[in-house]
Amino acid sequence: MPVDLAGVPAEPGVAKPDPMLVVDGVTRSFGGLHAVDVRHLELQRGAITALIGPNGAGKTTLFNVLTGFDRANSGRWSFDGTPLAGIPAYRVARHGMVRTFQLTKALARLTVLENLLLAATGQRGERMVPALVRPLWKSQEERNRERAEELLERFRLDHLRDAHAGTLSGGQRKLLELARALMVRPTMLMLDEPMAGVNPALAQSLLEHIVRLRDEGLTVCFVEHDMDMVMGTSDWVVCLAQGQVIAEGTPREISANDEVIDAYLGKQHGSPVREDESR
Ligand SMILES: Nc1ncnc2c1ncn2[C@@H]1O[C@H](COP(=O)(O)OP(=O)(O)OP(=O)(O)O)[C@@H](O)[C@H]1O
Ligand SMILES: [Mg+2]
Repeated sequence: MPVDLAGVPAEPGVAKPDPMLVVDGVTRSFGGLHAVDVRHLELQRGAITALIGPNGAGKTTLFNVLTGFDRANSGRWSFDGTPLAGIPAYRVARHGMVRTFQLTKALARLTVLENLLLAATGQRGERMVPALVRPLWKSQEERNRERAEELLERFRLDHLRDAHAGTLSGGQRKLLELARALMVRPTMLMLDEPMAGVNPALAQSLLEHIVRLRDEGLTVCFVEHDMDMVMGTSDWVVCLAQGQVIAEGTPREISANDEVIDAYLGKQHGSPVREDESR
């Protein structure tokens, strides 16, 4: 484990030794519903933080807000020292924070390779390149291709490079989604239920990929409902309920936390974890 958070008190909003993301007073309401109401939250650089909480707790909304896909009603947050409130998603990605979606965004009619190449431009936002600097532009295209090939190999998708994304299995699509996010070489990955709907063997392999990325220096935050996966992978766990951080701590501390059990884990008991993707 590259980061040791064992000495950090298990308290909502607790400071981290070296936070990558710092959130202050972020709220997002829909009508009268307070979907997100996070007073203070810090995510440790170089760590895997799992974000857990019951359905409707506000996990996806928090991701949307922090990554610029939705607007906060109030609050501020900074990423690696840069204030990000009000910054649109493509610029957030340029700063190095890239997210994946609960419902995969891979384009079914494009090939796997095309999906990757598109992600390189889509996430960063297309820049107008004057015709004069075409050689420069071309080398960017070449670099994208190299990066895509590297990722295809890493995720063992190379034999599927020319397959239409629509023909991939659920698990392969999740791998593609992860590869797409990595095209722009982010420093932080926000993964919204990366393992949802994936068979156990592939879920395990996805987890290994995520741990390896962390070991290579990436900061990761992922939403996950399955506590076994959270326990085995994360360095730190944040539990959201009704938009608020109700607990944080090491996986061991969180799985024994009464509030978490009441709000979330208790409800899971004996019932299978939801795997559908409603959005
Ligand atoms: N665009 C929207 N318009 C209205 N209400 C919304 C919208 N997006 C989310 N909500 C509501 O905000 C609350 C938080 O939703 P969110 O999707 O963030 O939860 P979640 O923790 O990701 O849940 P899940 O585990 O089911 O994915 C829910 O009550 C949801 O119905
Ligand atoms: Mg969600």
